[in-house]
Amino acid sequence: MRKPFIAGNWKMNMNAASAVSLASGLVKELEGVDSVDVAVCPPFVYLQAVAAALSASNIALGSQNVYFEENGAFTGEISCDMLKDVCCTYAIIGHSERRHVMGETDELINKKVSAAINGGLLPIFCVGELLAERNAGTTNDVVARQVKKGLEGICDERIQAVTIAYEPVWAIGTGLTATPEQAQEVHAMIRGLLTELYGKDIAQSLRIQYGGSAKPGNTAELMGQPDVDGLLVGGASLKVEDFAAMVKTVA
Ligand code: 13P
Repeated sequence: MRKPFIAGNWKMNMNAASAVSLASGLVKELEGVDSVDVAVCPPFVYLQAVAAALSASNIALGSQNVYFEENGAFTGEISCDMLKDVCCTYAIIGHSERRHVMGETDELINKKVSAAINGGLLPIFCVGELLAERNAGTTNDVVARQVKKGLEGICDERIQAVTIAYEPVWAIGTGLTATPEQAQEVHAMIRGLLTELYGKDIAQSLRIQYGGSAKPGNTAELMGQPDVDGLLVGGASLKVEDFAAMVKTVA
């Protein structure tokens, strides 16, 4: 039985005051909810303040990125140890905005996934096709390549730390949501691939989140799909009422 996992990716939004206010609002609204794992991923600079606001709650903290080296001359980058130091449990890795805006490759993402697991963080490893790739009928090929390359060298024990997030790029921030059937089809394909790579028991235990214009109004139908185990939420995670409503729908 996979425990549902709802995470909010705040992206490059909020300021110090609004980040703390959002976190505190969620703590209040979600008090007592323990049947769903919940995490928020603020910008790096607000992690510490948000960690303090979440301290007496079940809501976990995650980063939106991490670098694979332990320390040294890597200007602008943040290590696993630094993230753990400010109470992060999770790290989003390979988000489509990092792949397509910042140019991150499957190889770089693989190094980050591996380093995050070794460093004691739980990766939320993102995959997803572009609209042109979906229209060309290559969704499964693209996503399968991203999964295989992103998880290369990750053994049976280490994979258990990973959550996979399927985020079709055309559905991110566009208001276009994959239909529950479209999401389920890709999630089932990913689980099939995980079965090939890690065997049935591990594949059945791994959580696969959907992301892309998830909101209160489509949470129930998306989460009603057998292989959709959670949501990675962008825009709707910036409002206490919306994100709390989504978590409560799942709980
Ligand atoms: P939206 O929910 O704003 O479409 O963003 C999805 C996403 O990219 C979460 O990581």
